[in-house]
Amino acid sequence: MRSWVVYSSQTGNTKKLAEAVYAALPAEKELYPVDAAPDAAKYDFVAVGFWLKAGKPDEKAAAYLEKLSGTKVFLFATHGAASDSEHVKNAIKYAEDLAKNAKVVGRFSCQGEIAPQVMEKIRAKPQPPPWIVEAPPAEGHPDENDIKRVRRVVADVLEKEG
Ligand SMILES: Cc1cc2nc3c(=O)[nH]c(=O)nc-3n(C[C@H](O)[C@H](O)[C@H](O)COP(=O)(O)O)c2cc1C
Repeated sequence: MRSWVVYSSQTGNTKKLAEAVYAALPAEKELYPVDAAPDAAKYDFVAVGFWLKAGKPDEKAAAYLEKLSGTKVFLFATHGAASDSEHVKNAIKYAEDLAKNAKVVGRFSCQGEIAPQVMEKIRAKPQPPPWIVEAPPAEGHPDENDIKRVRRVVADVLEKEG
C-alpha cells in the first residue's frame, strides 16, 4: 500500500498529529505540508489533516480535499472547540462532503492549543464565536495521549481496510 499524509497547520498542532499518523503507517509513505503536496491520484491511502477555521476545515486543506478522487481517505483535525461538540461534528461532516469523490475510511480529531495572541483577538471581537468558551482546556494539546490515540485509530483503520 502506498500512502500519503498531507496536512495544513498554522501553529504546529495539526503537524504534530500528521507526524503521528505518518509514524503509524507502513513503509512506502510520504509526508507533505499541503502547500508542497503534489497530486494524490496515484495513492491508495491519503491521510489529510486540517485545523478548524470559522467552523470549517481551513481553506488550504479544504481545497485539497475537494481534489481527491478514488482514493481511501483518513481525515484528522485539531480545533479549539470541545471534541464532542456539534461545532466539531459539523466541521468533520463538512470535510467528508468536500471529499465526496474519495472514500472516507476513518477520522480523528482532538483539541489544539490556541496561540495566546489569537485567543486575545478572538475574545476581543464584539461577538466572539460560541466555541471560544470551550477553548481553555485545549492548552497543551495535542498531548502524548492524543498522539497515542491517533496512532491507535490509524492502526485500527489499516487493519480493517487491509
Ligand atoms: C483564525 C482562526 C479561526 C479559528 N476558528 C476555529 C473554529 O471555528 N473552531 C475551532 O474549534 N477552532 C478554531 N480555531 C482554533 C484552531 O483550529 C486550533 O487552535 C488548531 O489546533 C490550530 O491548528 P494548527 O496549530 O495546526 O494551525 C481557529 C483559529 C484561528 C487562528
